[in-house]
Amino acid sequence: MACVLASLLLFAYLLLLPGLSSSHPLCTDSKAPVTPKTPLAFCPYSGNVCCDSAKDLELQKQFQAMNISDPACSSILKSIVCSICDQFSAELFQIEGPQPVPVLCNSTISANASQSNGATNDFCGKVWDTCQNISILNSPFAPSLQGRAGVPGNSTYSKMTDLWQSKSEFCNAFGGDSGNGSMCFDGEPISLNNTETPSPPNGLCLEKIGNGSSYLNLVAHPDGSSRIFLSDQQGKIWLATVPDEDSGKTLELDELNPFVDLTDEVYFSSEFGLMGMAFHPNFAQNGRFFVSFNCDKIKWPGCSGRCSCNSDVNCDPSKLASNNGASPCQYHSVISEFTANGTTSEVSLATRANPTEVRRIFTMGLPFTSHHAGQILFGPTDGYLYFMMGDGGSTGDTYNFSQNKKSLLGKIMRLDVDNIPSAKEIDTLGLWGNYSIPKDNPFSEDTELQPEIWALGLRNPWRCSFDSERPSYFLCADVGQDQYEEVDIITKGGNYGWRAYEGPYLYSPPLSPGGNTSVNSTNPIFPIMGYNHSTVNKKEGSASITGGYFYRSMTDPCTYGSYLYADLYAGNMWAGIETPQDSGNFSSRSISFSCARDSPIQCESLPGSSLPALGYIFSFGEDNKKDVYLLTSKGVYRVVRPSRCSYACSKENATAAGSPNRGTSTPSSGSWLRVAFNNVMLFLSSSLLLILGFVF
Ligand SMILES: *[C@@H]1O[C@H](CO)[C@@H](O)[C@H](O)[C@H]1NC(C)=O
Ligand SMILES: *[C@@H]1O[C@H](CO)[C@@H](O)[C@H](O)[C@H]1NC(C)=O
Ligand SMILES: *[C@@H]1O[C@H](CO)[C@@H](O)[C@H](O)[C@H]1NC(C)=O
Ligand SMILES: *[C@@H]1O[C@H](CO)[C@@H](O)[C@H](O)[C@H]1NC(C)=O
Ligand SMILES: *[C@@H]1O[C@H](CO)[C@@H](O)[C@H](O)[C@H]1NC(C)=O
Ligand SMILES: *[C@@H]1O[C@H](CO)[C@@H](O)[C@H](O)[C@H]1NC(C)=O
Ligand SMILES: *[C@@H]1O[C@H](CO)[C@@H](O)[C@H](O)[C@H]1NC(C)=O
Ligand SMILES: *[C@@H]1O[C@H](CO)[C@@H](O)[C@H](O)[C@H]1NC(C)=O
Ligand SMILES: *[C@@H]1O[C@H](CO)[C@@H](O)[C@H](O)[C@H]1NC(C)=O
Ligand SMILES: *[C@@H]1O[C@H](CO)[C@@H](O)[C@H](O)[C@H]1NC(C)=O
Ligand SMILES: *[C@@H]1O[C@H](CO)[C@@H](O)[C@H](O)[C@H]1NC(C)=O
Ligand SMILES: *[C@@H]1O[C@H](CO)[C@@H](O)[C@H](O)[C@H]1NC(C)=O
Repeated sequence: MACVLASLLLFAYLLLLPGLSSSHPLCTDSKAPVTPKTPLAFCPYSGNVCCDSAKDLELQKQFQAMNISDPACSSILKSIVCSICDQFSAELFQIEGPQPVPVLCNSTISANASQSNGATNDFCGKVWDTCQNISILNSPFAPSLQGRAGVPGNSTYSKMTDLWQSKSEFCNAFGGDSGNGSMCFDGEPISLNNTETPSPPNGLCLEKIGNGSSYLNLVAHPDGSSRIFLSDQQGKIWLATVPDEDSGKTLELDELNPFVDLTDEVYFSSEFGLMGMAFHPNFAQNGRFFVSFNCDKIKWPGCSGRCSCNSDVNCDPSKLASNNGASPCQYHSVISEFTANGTTSEVSLATRANPTEVRRIFTMGLPFTSHHAGQILFGPTDGYLYFMMGDGGSTGDTYNFSQNKKSLLGKIMRLDVDNIPSAKEIDTLGLWGNYSIPKDNPFSEDTELQPEIWALGLRNPWRCSFDSERPSYFLCADVGQDQYEEVDIITKGGNYGWRAYEGPYLYSPPLSPGGNTSVNSTNPIFPIMGYNHSTVNKKEGSASITGGYFYRSMTDPCTYGSYLYADLYAGNMWAGIETPQDSGNFSSRSISFSCARDSPIQCESLPGSSLPALGYIFSFGEDNKKDVYLLTSKGVYRVVRPSRCSYACSKENATAAGSPNRGTSTPSSGSWLRVAFNNVMLFLSSSLLLILGFVF
C-alpha cells in the first residue's frame, strides 16, 4: 500500500512540474557553474561544475552512509549522488521542485535529442535491474516516505522492490526523456552533441511603422492584445496598436493624448529621462504599473533620497569631482508605481492612467551623470521586479562601486513589489524604498551583499530581456569602456567582472580613489557574446551596445532562435547563435538588414544602398506575437517576412504558405563594413543626438 501511495504521489508531483523548458548550464541553486579552485576528490566532475570541495565531501559522506554492499549498485548510486555536481544540475533535478534524484534517462529516447550520450541508453532500467534487491540505507528513491512518514535522521533500510512494484512503475516515477529541451541523467556527465548547426539568417527585413524618434521602451500590453506601450525619454507613455503585417498601416498612436505624461517629474538630458517601464503581471486585473526615471532634486521636491555616494561605500560626497556643474546626488534614479485602475470599469479598456504616483518604490541619489541604466522587468517565472543599475558614471568606475557588495551601483537588483514592508522593516533593513526582499536573493547565502542585489559587476546594462521560451536565459548587454561591448547570461549572484575586467580583458582604471581592485576576489563570469571596439566603425571613440531579444516570432522563421543585438552608434546588428542548443555557447554573426520596399513609411536609404538609415539604435522591443521592433532615432521598425526584402529563407514559405509576396527590394551586395561606415557618416552629418555620454 505504502509503495503504491508513494509512487502515485511522486508521479502526480512530476506531472505537476511547470512546463519543462531547457536551460543553459545552471545549478540547482540557480547559480552559474564554476571551476573549483581545487579539483573534486570524490565526484568525477571537472571543468565548470555545481559543487565545491565542501559539497563533494558532503556527497561522499551521504554516499557512504547508504552502506551499499553490492559493487555494481554502489557504483550506479555514486553516479546518481554525484550528478548534482553536473553543470546542468538545474535541468537534471528540475529546479522548480528540487528532487532528491535526477531525471533518469528512460528507454524511449527522442532521436532528436541534443544530448548525445543518452541516445540508446535505458539508464533507468539499468538502475532498476542492478539495484532492485539491494538494501540501501536512507535510499534517495524513498523521498516521499521519508518526508511524510519518517523523521529526518531516522535511518531505514529499503529495497526498491519495497517501494515500487515493477520497473515500469519505478521508471514512470523517475524516468524521463532528453527530448524537447529537457535533459536526463544516463550515468555520465551531460555532454551536448548536436550535429545540427543552425545557420544565421541571411538578413533582417524591416518595415518602418512609426516616426517617433526618441522612444526607449516598447512593452507588450499584458492583456495579450496587439497593443503596446511606448515611452519616450522625455517622460511620456503612449498606448499604441501595432498594425497587422501586410496591412500597409502604421502604428496607431495618438501623439497628443499619451497614456500618462510624467514630463513634469522626469529630468531629461543625454543620459537622463524615463528609462524603463514595467506592467505588473496582473496588470489586466490590478492596473499596477511601474516607471523608472531620473529626477532633479532642485526642480522637483519629490526627488529626494539617500545618496549612493556615502560612508558605507567609502565615498565622500563632498569630494566628488564636480560633474557638469551638478552637485553630487542632485539627480536621482527612482521607480514609481502608478495605476490605470479606476479610470474605467475595466483596466483593459483604460486608455489613460492617473499621473499621480501611487507609491514610491525606490529612490537613490546618483554620484555622476551617466551609467545608471534604469530598465525594469518582471521576471517571467518569479514575478519579481528586476532593476538594472549602472556603475554611476565616471571613467573606470572610480569608486569601485560595481564590485562593492554594499553599493547598489553596477548591479542588477531583484525586488518584491507585491509585499510592501512596514516602515520599521524598511528602516531595519536599510531599504531604499517600499519593496521587500525576496527570501532567496543571493544575500541569503552571502551576508556581505546588500539584500537587493541579484547580480554584480555591471558597468551600464543597456537593455536586458528574458527569452520568452526559456526564462532561465536572462540576457543583458553591458556597455564597455574602451575596448569591448558584451552580452552576459545573468544568473543569481553572478559577478560580471567590471571593473576588474572589461569583457574578457583585465582592466586598470586610470583614476582610483576607490583603491585597486583585487582581481582574484571577483571570480567573474565572462561574456557569452560581444565585440571589440576595433571591429565597428567608431567615431569619437565611441561604441555602445544595445541588447535585444531572442527572436521568437515565426514571422521570420530563419531568424527564430537567434539573439539579436546592435551597436547604438554604428548601426551594426548581430545575430547570436547557440550551438549546441542549451550549451550557453554562442557565436555572433554580423547581419545585414534591409527595408521592405512596401514599408508603410518609406525608410530613408543610405546613398548608393538599399539599407535603411536606422540612425542610433536605442533599444529593442517585443510584442505579444513575439515580433521584434527596433527603436531608433529615425523611427520604429519591425522585423518582417524575409521575402519582403528578397532575402532567401526556405522556411518562410513552409510556415506562411499563400501569403502574398509584396516585397521586391534588393538587399545590398556591398560589403557590410562599407555600409556601417556610411551609416555613421550619415548620422554624424545629420542630427547629433542624445546619449553621447554613454561611453564616457
Ligand atoms: C553496513 O553494512 C554492514 C554489512 O554490509 C553492516 O555490518 C553495518 O552494520 C552497516 N552499517 C550501518 C550503519 O548500518
Ligand atoms: C527529428 O528529426 C527528423 C530529421 O532530422 C525530422 O524529420 C523529425 O521531424 C524530427 N522529429 C521531431 C519530433 O522533432
Ligand atoms: C531480484 O529478486 C528477484 C525476485 O526475487 C529476482 O528474480 C531477480 O533475479 C533478483 N535480481 C538480482 C539482480 O539479484
Ligand atoms: C523511524 O521510522 C520507523 C518506521 O517508519 C518508526 O517505527 C520509528 O518510530 C522511527 N523512529 C523515530 C526515532 O522516529
Ligand atoms: C519510462 O519507460 C517506461 C517503460 O520502460 C514507460 O512505461 C514510461 O512511461 C516511461 N516514463 C517516462 C516518464 O518516460
Ligand atoms: C515534444 O513536444 C511536442 C509539442 O509540445 C509534443 O507533441 C511531443 O510529444 C514532445 N515529445 C516528447 C518526446 O516529449
Ligand atoms: C557527436 O555524435 C556523433 C554521432 O552520434 C559522433 O560521431 C561524434 O563523434 C560526436 N561528437 C562529440 C564531440 O561527441
Ligand atoms: C512619417 O514621416 C514621413 C516623412 O516626414 C511622412 O511622410 C509620414 O506621413 C509620417 N508618417 C506618420 C505615420 O506619421
Ligand atoms: C483596483 O483593482 C482591484 C482589483 O480589481 C480592486 O480590488 C481595487 O479596489 C482597485 N483599486 C482602485 C484604487 O480602484
Ligand atoms: C574593490 O572591490 C574589490 C572586490 O570587492 C575589493 O577586493 C577591493 O578591495 C575593492 N577596493 C577598494 C579600495 O575598496
Ligand atoms: C591570485 O590568484 C593567482 C592564481 O590563483 C595566484 O597565483 C595569486 O597569488 C593571487 N594573487 C593574490 C593577490 O591573491
Ligand atoms: C517563397 O515564396 C515567395 C512568394 O510567396 C517567393 O517569391 C520565394 O521565392 C519563395 N522562396 C523560396 C525559398 O521558395
